[in-house]
Amino acid sequence: MCGIVGYIGEGNAKKYLLQGLEKLEYRGYDSAGISVLQDDKIVTVKKKGPLKNLKNAIKNVDLTSDVGIGHTRWATHGIPSDKNSHPHLSEDKKISVVHNGIIENYAVLKEDLIKKGYKFVSETDTEVIAHLISHLYSGSLLDAVISATKQLKGSYSIGVISQDEPDKIIAVRKDSPLIVGLKDDGNFIASDIPAILSETKDIYILNDNEFALLKKDKVTLYDERKNEIERKIYKAEFDDVTIQKDGYDHFMIKEIFEQPKAIKDTLLSCIMGEKVEMDSIKYDNLKDINKIFIVGCGSAYHAGLVGKIVIEKWAKIPVNVDIASEFIYRNPLIDKNTLLILISQSGETADTISALKLGKKTGCKTLAITNAMGSTISREADFVFYTRAGIEISVASTKAYITQLIALYAFALLLAQKKMEKDEFENIKAEILLLDKKVSKILLDDKNIKTIAKKIANEKDIFYIGRGVSYASAMEGALKLKEISYIHSEAYAGGELKHGPIALIENGTVVIAINTDKNLKEKMDNNIKEVASRGAYVIGIVPESFKNSNYNDTIKIPDTKPELYPVLSSVPLQLLSYYVATEKGYDVDKPRNLAKSVTVE
Ligand code: G6P
Repeated sequence: MCGIVGYIGEGNAKKYLLQGLEKLEYRGYDSAGISVLQDDKIVTVKKKGPLKNLKNAIKNVDLTSDVGIGHTRWATHGIPSDKNSHPHLSEDKKISVVHNGIIENYAVLKEDLIKKGYKFVSETDTEVIAHLISHLYSGSLLDAVISATKQLKGSYSIGVISQDEPDKIIAVRKDSPLIVGLKDDGNFIASDIPAILSETKDIYILNDNEFALLKKDKVTLYDERKNEIERKIYKAEFDDVTIQKDGYDHFMIKEIFEQPKAIKDTLLSCIMGEKVEMDSIKYDNLKDINKIFIVGCGSAYHAGLVGKIVIEKWAKIPVNVDIASEFIYRNPLIDKNTLLILISQSGETADTISALKLGKKTGCKTLAITNAMGSTISREADFVFYTRAGIEISVASTKAYITQLIALYAFALLLAQKKMEKDEFENIKAEILLLDKKVSKILLDDKNIKTIAKKIANEKDIFYIGRGVSYASAMEGALKLKEISYIHSEAYAGGELKHGPIALIENGTVVIAINTDKNLKEKMDNNIKEVASRGAYVIGIVPESFKNSNYNDTIKIPDTKPELYPVLSSVPLQLLSYYVATEKGYDVDKPRNLAKSVTVE
């Protein structure tokens, strides 16, 4: 949610800010703005709408400067508008602030500041920070920011510049990501590494309640008592080239086609050898576990639903799966023999972080499955496994989701390896190792899927049905479609249709049936007949070996073990959503109202 960036050095601040914002647009794209210090005055330009509106507004404006901050917004407090866009300024316009997160006590602070005579021009919570810092300022910007944060409740990463101290940027983080980039001729702040990757790979990752004072040739980190902190430089492992579209029209389709590699890279890190080994996770640390909770949001939650089925089946340990925002308010029964698995591509999702904190408070063991090295969840959980999907830019998750499935299969095997017959264990492992090739094969069917997508692109409602692991795939398929094509889509368990949803089926209603498990085929075939006989147009996603099926359109996928089908069936479902959305002419990588990294609760 929201992306912030800042630069101080000997370069062209405007260029670095725009370049950084471009890479952070996946975090929010309601509006964007920058403040730079020019001739010792703060010049601010902000525009409602995507970044290109800001770029157009400043195309011909001379903004020569070597210090500035920028922001791309996902609105929480106040509609997207020029006024509500960041940066926000103090009343005397000497201090400029960008913020990611939510100030929960902003209303109280605002009332107090209004009483003191401050005038507000926006509806945002962030403007409170600018006035507060200005109010507390008495000669040291760092001290004023430290004092201001003592009054703030909520989550924030903040970047601040001041006209009175033009040689510095002050930044702070609490429950919202922020990194510092280090370069010989200048330094950066950013919400995420891609924003600065074209300039540097040397990074300080800030922890909660840490402050950074950036000068052009030096960065000093402080704790909240203003003690200096030492920090090891983290070297980013990926290159800027990995975040280009490489000739594809969108990041989403590029990322769909990167899935064989993402699967292979993830497998190489855990399952290639004789045993299953997963980064810091050791079987001996987990042998007393008698109950597991898997928690995540969006696609990560859907991966968890598959995880439950395989862990229970292979490792015989009971598993609950929860949406993070529900888990944290329902008093789950956790104790020291419970393992809490947090799944999060970004490792920064606020609800999932809250679930992790709740787990830690109760003393259970915590395991993070994440794609982001150094992310909050990866640093705070007891054990971490990194999916090796590479950077995922498109808001709709594809390769990160598929590698979460791989991680869960590997983890289920790791737990099961002392309980399962050797043959069965080897057999499952061998099948898992074939998945990347099978996904490559499905990608060759791209054209057929595109043709089917064209036929359904004008539908108002589309239903997905499945049973067992394929019910979880149906949920993920429906999410993918609604996220990027704005078509109302719902997933139902095949057996539930007759308890209500079948009332929605009429002549021509599109139903996508994911019919993959041979043990459930007969039941699914009956469910398909039930909707077909009421006029549904049925698209089947079925293994190559399934014969005699009556579908209006069929997408074949290679055969595998029943539990592994979600990896294979998710690929045509992703392609179908992608081609429906492109057929409708939508901006697939930046769907309306959504953001990739949801750092507010
Ligand atoms: C957002 C994204 C989804 C993602 C979810 C969880 O809603 O649009 O694609 O699945 O957040 O994100 P996480 O980073 O925790 O996996």
